[in-house]
Amino acid sequence: MASPTLISDTEAWKDLKGHVEEIKKTHLRDLMADAERCKSMMVEFDGVLLDYSRQRATNETVDKLFKLAEEAKLKEKINRMYNGEHINSTENRSVLHEALRASRDSVIQSDGKNVVPEVWSVLDKIKDFSERVRSGSWVGATGKVLKDVVAVGIGGSFLGPLFVHTALQTDPEAIKFARGRQLRFLANVDPIDVARNITGLNPETTLVVVVSKTFTTAETMLNARTLREWISAALGPSAVAKHMVAVSTNLTLVEKFGIDPNNAFAFWDWVGGRYSVCSAVGVFPLSLQYGFSVVEQFLKGASSIDQHFYSAPHEKNIPVLLGLLSIWNVSFFGHPARAILPYSQALEKFAPHIQQVSMESNGKGVSIDGVLLPFEAGEIDFGEPGTNGQHSFYQLIHQGRVIPCDFIGVVKSQQPVYLKGEVVSNHDELMSNFFAQPDALAYGKTPKQLHKENVPPHLIPHKTFSGNRPSLSLLLPSLNAYNIGQLLAIYEHRIAVEGFVWGINSFDQWGVELGKSLATQVRKQLHASRTKGEPVEGFNFSTATLLTRYLEATADIPADPPTLLPRI
Ligand code: F6P
Repeated sequence: MASPTLISDTEAWKDLKGHVEEIKKTHLRDLMADAERCKSMMVEFDGVLLDYSRQRATNETVDKLFKLAEEAKLKEKINRMYNGEHINSTENRSVLHEALRASRDSVIQSDGKNVVPEVWSVLDKIKDFSERVRSGSWVGATGKVLKDVVAVGIGGSFLGPLFVHTALQTDPEAIKFARGRQLRFLANVDPIDVARNITGLNPETTLVVVVSKTFTTAETMLNARTLREWISAALGPSAVAKHMVAVSTNLTLVEKFGIDPNNAFAFWDWVGGRYSVCSAVGVFPLSLQYGFSVVEQFLKGASSIDQHFYSAPHEKNIPVLLGLLSIWNVSFFGHPARAILPYSQALEKFAPHIQQVSMESNGKGVSIDGVLLPFEAGEIDFGEPGTNGQHSFYQLIHQGRVIPCDFIGVVKSQQPVYLKGEVVSNHDELMSNFFAQPDALAYGKTPKQLHKENVPPHLIPHKTFSGNRPSLSLLLPSLNAYNIGQLLAIYEHRIAVEGFVWGINSFDQWGVELGKSLATQVRKQLHASRTKGEPVEGFNFSTATLLTRYLEATADIPADPPTLLPRI
């Protein structure tokens, strides 16, 4: 018999469908009482501890999930990825972001060629160029040191680097290398983002890095042209060569834009945009800010997890366990969302980054073979650092909808604070919440307990916590560049595991195209209406009405306005 196309047709899936009904009869309060079970649900690798004992799962559940992984040929799919096969079939590409952080002597093949030497030749070029800028041997058009960098890019060419930059900004080691320098990110095509980015910057001391895999993304290219204008207006057009460099896979378009390809840093089509932070996309701007040696530690942390993911057995494999547990929550419990809750302000941009990695990867409606999925794939990711989130959306998590939570804690703070006479240090205070919240979710509070506390009867329903709400905890030893790399790779691979088991293509993103092409139609209409007074045509009633209102209210804008840059 031919093997089933969809994972939901397999015996392992059907078995889990039955099994979840049994698990629904249990309560985490009881599951947590079994110390042996809890012990078996703790996994440690390279200083990272995963505790998934607060998942609504037993050892039997985990075994059944491993069976599902087997049916999905998870290990074979991981091997195919690492072997450089074209697993991104709709774009006919391999998926090799792990090669971006492989050691110099590794061999990773794509299309019969070892890609590692190319990776390292770009890394060497980044090291050399960033050191020249940082040391002041590469200066701006007026001879001043380029101490400020604006990285222009969006989506994967922005969110990953922003996450890592935000996480490093308070790391004592990284701080030492960043003194006197700043790194900013211009992503949104909204001119307000331009204004925010150039405010307080002097073009004479600013290097603009245009980051775009394709070098065609509308937002990035308009922002790049805007900053080119900002530089030329202040320093003359010839200054652009000294003040603008690029990161792209499309060096032809880089040159057409007016950037010398010698000042461009390449990457390859086997690097997906949202998986590109370890390519020049992240490594170049971050090296300008922190120096290459710090960024190299970040790559090493990610590489450590790459090797773990490739070689550890499923029961000890952190990304595999995380991926399977997500599937358990989404596909069997039917929880559509997941909260990412880092108890570290340095990780404030982690959830926004993972939102893209996860939702652009796994938000799919068909299998990799194009068959309509009879189940929902992907999950809604959101999050905020604790304790801020506690004062925002945790009400819903505790008493409203069930949202499986990822609690991410750090043992040693980047910035410890102790106040004489306080009960605990500031970091201990933060971590008290990290340890308490998962138990509050798991155990809840019963009406019986409330009675005992003499809570007035009319308030008992309001003060009851059902508990039985799943979470998992990840504890990192510290938050240096290495650990940040580990965390990134854990989530990247977890998301791949989910996609491999759901049987989808986690590496394409056709869903972003339709909106882009409709915007092109609107852009043409706006141009025609503003320059030739053409009426709004070819849109539905709603869009036509809104467009007409917008055009009428801005009719004072001249047909061919002079260049205007933000003045704040
Ligand atoms: O949002 C769609 C997308 O294609 C992302 O996948 C990508 O990260 C982003 O646009 C930016 O693309 P580029 O790096 O080519 O400018």
